[in-house]
Amino acid sequence: MARDTSLFSGRPSELIGRQVAGYRIEREIGRGGMAVVYRARDLRLERTVALKLLAPELARNDTFRRRFSHESRTAAALDHPHIVPVFEAGETDGVLYIAMRYVAGSDLRHLLDREGPLPPGTALRIAAQVASALDAAHEHGLVHRDVKPGNILVARGTDSDHPEHVYLTDFGLTKKSLSLTGFTTVGQFVGTLDYVAPEQISGKPVDARCDVYGFACVVYECLAGHPPFRRDDDMALLWAHQYDEPPPLTEARPDLAAAVDAVFADALAKSPDRRQDSCLAFVAELRAAVAGGTAAGHAPTEVDLRVAGAREEPADAGDSRGRATAGPSSQESVGRVTAEPPKESGRYEPKPPPRWAEPVFRR
Ligand SMILES: Nc1ncnc2c1ncn2[C@@H]1O[C@H](COP(=O)(O)OP(=O)(O)O)[C@@H](O)[C@H]1O
Ligand SMILES: [Mg+2]
Repeated sequence: MARDTSLFSGRPSELIGRQVAGYRIEREIGRGGMAVVYRARDLRLERTVALKLLAPELARNDTFRRRFSHESRTAAALDHPHIVPVFEAGETDGVLYIAMRYVAGSDLRHLLDREGPLPPGTALRIAAQVASALDAAHEHGLVHRDVKPGNILVARGTDSDHPEHVYLTDFGLTKKSLSLTGFTTVGQFVGTLDYVAPEQISGKPVDARCDVYGFACVVYECLAGHPPFRRDDDMALLWAHQYDEPPPLTEARPDLAAAVDAVFADALAKSPDRRQDSCLAFVAELRAAVAGGTAAGHAPTEVDLRVAGAREEPADAGDSRGRATAGPSSQESVGRVTAEPPKESGRYEPKPPPRWAEPVFRR
């Protein structure tokens, strides 16, 4: 069917202005190995959404289709301030699609590529929000399986205590085990292997602890500027996840207390049993290790008037679930980017204001 192909793999410009399943496509936001994401207008509800069109080959895979429909229902039922709300998931012309809240801002991949290693306070704030999202999903029996910087969206936060508001996205979009998925028919891997847990590689059953591993890889990268394992090819990387010890984070970040190494050693353990019980438990240990036992002072909250007022981008006008909600992370925050900065030693001085709080700078 020529139309199936043109929906997904046609030149992006061909889809701009077209209507797909009741959405008018406005522009391409980004693309990953298995999908293209567009900013689109929901013509029924008159609101802006992010419309994700999945590769047609996924729609042809029955296992994936079943999982897609089951997990998108579960994900849509998750109402959490740090999980991108899913509005609708369905199929049109042989292409699976998901309509979700459009998040104005950046994704963590883009942010890390631009900023390099983050100050510990910033990394911890972002980590605490992602952790609360993952733990909430786990409580609902949902394992993400594809925690990576590209699936963490960073929008402007509400005030100086919360300079960024982070959303986790793409639940249930990976297939059950790595051995079945991520590889194209010619055996080439699409996507990244930087965050994949050893048990995913070996095809063992996965549970929430595979997300603890993937999440710890992401947090490691936030602090080190690179993921725990760097290898020349995919096979070597898969091997490393399964058998090699991750280099201590303090090799890349000698400014951090040595105690952080033990925290990552547990989170990145080959055996899921040795990892922390939850993502928030990992973040709590990391925070304690970074603070070295001394609690950082809490600077007074400063209201960001730009946030309190109208948004520059009319992106989710009409969306009733405002971003301003402070998540469970609000009590978790350590380190401020504004006001009296905590002790963030060495060359990683906090630098207000965070530039990703500026309007859209997507690719
Ligand atoms: N709800 C959303 N709002 C805004 N941008 C989004 C949304 N979902 C995804 N994106 C953007 O689209 C890009 C491509 O997404 P995706 O196809 O899932 O690939 P990947 O996750 O591998 O980067 C993401 O990296 C992100 O920047
Ligand atoms: Mg994604």
